[in-house]
Amino acid sequence: DVLPKGVKALMDNGLVTIPGRYVKPPSHRAVKHLIVPGVEIPVIDMAALESDREKFVQTLCKASSEWGIFQVINHGIPVATMQGMVHGVLELFDLPIEEKMKYYTEEVFVPVRYCTSMTPSQETHMEWHDHFQHYFSSGFHEIAWFLGYCRRLASSYVSSVRHLSQTLMSALSEGLGLDSNCLAKSFGDSEMILRSNYYPPCPNPDLALGMNGHTDSGGLTILFEDQVGGLQARKGDLWYDLKPIKNAFIVNIADQLEILSNGKYKSIEHRVLVQPDQTRLSIVAFCNPSRDAVIGPLPELIDEQNPPLYKSTLYQEHITNVYTKYLDGKHSQKLQIN
Ligand code: SIN
Ligand code: FE2
Repeated sequence: DVLPKGVKALMDNGLVTIPGRYVKPPSHRAVKHLIVPGVEIPVIDMAALESDREKFVQTLCKASSEWGIFQVINHGIPVATMQGMVHGVLELFDLPIEEKMKYYTEEVFVPVRYCTSMTPSQETHMEWHDHFQHYFSSGFHEIAWFLGYCRRLASSYVSSVRHLSQTLMSALSEGLGLDSNCLAKSFGDSEMILRSNYYPPCPNPDLALGMNGHTDSGGLTILFEDQVGGLQARKGDLWYDLKPIKNAFIVNIADQLEILSNGKYKSIEHRVLVQPDQTRLSIVAFCNPSRDAVIGPLPELIDEQNPPLYKSTLYQEHITNVYTKYLDGKHSQKLQIN
């Protein structure tokens, strides 16, 4: 079989109608009347951490329980670092397709991956995006980072984002009434994955999706997007269209934090719509538990009134289930409560 080369390559070749494989069945398409436009999700001001930590923790805890997704401002990561990353990543996607295809794989655990959609060989309906994915386990900074592109910027970007995730995790631990290192301890030697998503313009945006609705499997997701928009989060039957804030990060709770918090923090479902005339770029950092961490509801949160809502699972096994057996993330770990 010929490997799919990605949607950017299709558009670079002057495509005018999307191929059948990208046409979503009607039941999977975005339905206009179920979309709430221009919503401002909670905004977390990191500057407030210094002035009133208790209030900051409360605000963060509320956003994580009611929404599970929020924007973070005054995060201290220089705009130059963020813009430098964007330029570096765009250069990567602009490489000749033969260069990119050297890294093409559907494997999940490889250090460097170029792919399109999620697992093209298994999908009947593909997603309208290409991506690069890189692993940054501790001590893994020295890989031929981005094939030599933006190496210096990437390391400072990754360490800044890692620091931000640690600060948020401490506050999230306190929000559960626990020691600030409690969640980090459960993660063990945490693993960071950087994934850059490229969504080219789509000739039939109503028939396709940039990314299907999903919850993130890992711990905490820290996402940088440009100003194009298209990211939506679901509450009940409605999809909330998230309005980008310039130079902010979008942070969302992923499945392992929902499980550790025994359902207090919500891993929210989200998806991406595509545009007819604009390219969208997102750079997503997944801050995940170590693969050998066993993740279940924290024992401190469990008593007779608060039974565990999820079973404990080795994180590596969880990921393997999600990607190879297509089990539905956190739902596969839900316990039946009588
Ligand atoms: C993702 O959910 O992993 C990516 C979302 C985005 O591109 O904004
Ligand atoms: Fe996601």
